Amino acid sequence: MKLLAVENLFYLILLVLSKGFVYGDQGCTEKFMELSQVTYRAQYTSASAPGRTWDDKLRALQEYQFNCSSTNVTSLILGIDVRRATGSINLFPSVRVYRPNSNDPGKYDLVTGSERTIYYSTSNVSTSGVFEYPLNPPIPVMSGEVVAIVQPREEESVVRIYYIEGVSGISFSSSKEISIDSDEIDLGDTPITNELILVYPVTDGHCVNSANSINAMAIRNYFLTVQRSGAINDRRQYLYPEIVFSCNGSLTKWIYGGMNHNNMNNNSPELQIWRQLGPNNYNKIGSSLVNANTMIGTNLYEFIPQTPLQFQEGDIFGVHIPQTGQSVFSLYEQRGNGPLNERVNGDADNPYSTITQALVTDSNNDFPLVTVEVSISLASTSVVSSSSTSPVISTTSVITTSTMISSTVVSITLSNALSILFILYHSS
Ligand SMILES: *[C@@H]1O[C@H](CO)[C@@H](O)[C@H](O)[C@H]1NC(C)=O
Ligand SMILES: *[C@@H]1O[C@H](CO)[C@@H](O)[C@H](O)[C@H]1NC(C)=O
Ligand SMILES: *[C@@H]1O[C@H](CO)[C@@H](O)[C@H](O)[C@H]1NC(C)=O
Ligand SMILES: *[C@@H]1O[C@H](CO)[C@@H](O)[C@H](O)[C@H]1NC(C)=O
Repeated sequence: MKLLAVENLFYLILLVLSKGFVYGDQGCTEKFMELSQVTYRAQYTSASAPGRTWDDKLRALQEYQFNCSSTNVTSLILGIDVRRATGSINLFPSVRVYRPNSNDPGKYDLVTGSERTIYYSTSNVSTSGVFEYPLNPPIPVMSGEVVAIVQPREEESVVRIYYIEGVSGISFSSSKEISIDSDEIDLGDTPITNELILVYPVTDGHCVNSANSINAMAIRNYFLTVQRSGAINDRRQYLYPEIVFSCNGSLTKWIYGGMNHNNMNNNSPELQIWRQLGPNNYNKIGSSLVNANTMIGTNLYEFIPQTPLQFQEGDIFGVHIPQTGQSVFSLYEQRGNGPLNERVNGDADNPYSTITQALVTDSNNDFPLVTVEVSISLASTSVVSSSSTSPVISTTSVITTSTMISSTVVSITLSNALSILFILYHSS
């Protein structure tokens, strides 16, 4: 009964709210790169520091000392490379904990049950550039214990942990490479200090002390510098089956990064919305030939379609890239750490409008520097009761109306409305 009363109030408030008309870029388009990352990658196109990994060995991170008698490592901030899993690329790194052996100074024993695998796939790469891997369940650690990272055979790994060698002004203490199968490790030698391993363990409370003041922010920032962006291959028709619109609505603005060639060419990249009709059967249902007329940042542009492009839940993002020498503009992508890249086999001088052949999957999983602003159609009649306990209300759980409102506005305003509602409710 109480829930029903709250729901009815929601319904009334939503009727009022749905008159609003403001755009947001999140909500039903989470798999596009976030605007902050598009902006950053467009501005800094080349990597300033080379990231490296290691092979079939573990390394202990003596850099981090746990200074609470006991705590939990709840997540890891990571600088990684996530690739497409295939038959021969199917291994994952892991994290584990070693405990000092009280009888044997310098020796550490594996803590049974402490190992957690770090799984990522192309469908859950970071859209913000920050990889924070949640550890479920968390790893309990005690003061004196050491976290180690296990990197399996590099060329067979879906996820590879990066380090950066010789960063000026940065020291980071880690062990040399140790055999993966070691239940006991020897940390008696002087640690290596010129290799910044891009891992930070996040604990409950503030229980990590870093001898060289490495923090989560430092790991994030150095990781940003090891990635780069560049022009997407030309004469290609790409589809990104993991960049999906997860609601019904319309696209009101494209924002994208790339290089303006300042020429009089007639061709442009085309940003597209595709609908899959069946196996090997796709229809383009909306598209914009984008140009470099409206610059909103360094190598960053926007394009507002004259008529918003309608899309439905499940529609897929795609791009056509014309021949570079005939194009006014080159669209950019982040190299790697992106979703699956599928494309029409062979050269595509013109954009497709239907595809009735099997797509080929690129070995690269690059991430186009494209984000969107959308307006979400409200379609369902019920307010989901569980949403009344959530701080952010799902936009798919609202009322029948032909009015469009933005996801961002719905969630922010609803949470405000929610607190007002609860005050009303409790005082009545
Ligand atoms: C660690 O997390 C577990 C739940 O997984 C919890 O039971 C335990 O109390 C936590 N320990 C500390 C020290 O916070
Ligand atoms: C990514 O997806 C895989 C399944 O494909 C899952 O096992 C893993 O936990 C996910 N990682 C994150 C960070 O969500
Ligand atoms: C552990 O070390 C960190 C970083 O030096 C510090 O902020 C924190 O207060 C310390 N925690 C305890 C319990 O001493
Ligand atoms: C989106 O629209 C389609 C077709 O009108 C409909 O079948 C589907 O239920 C709608 N989905 C949502 C989440 O409203």
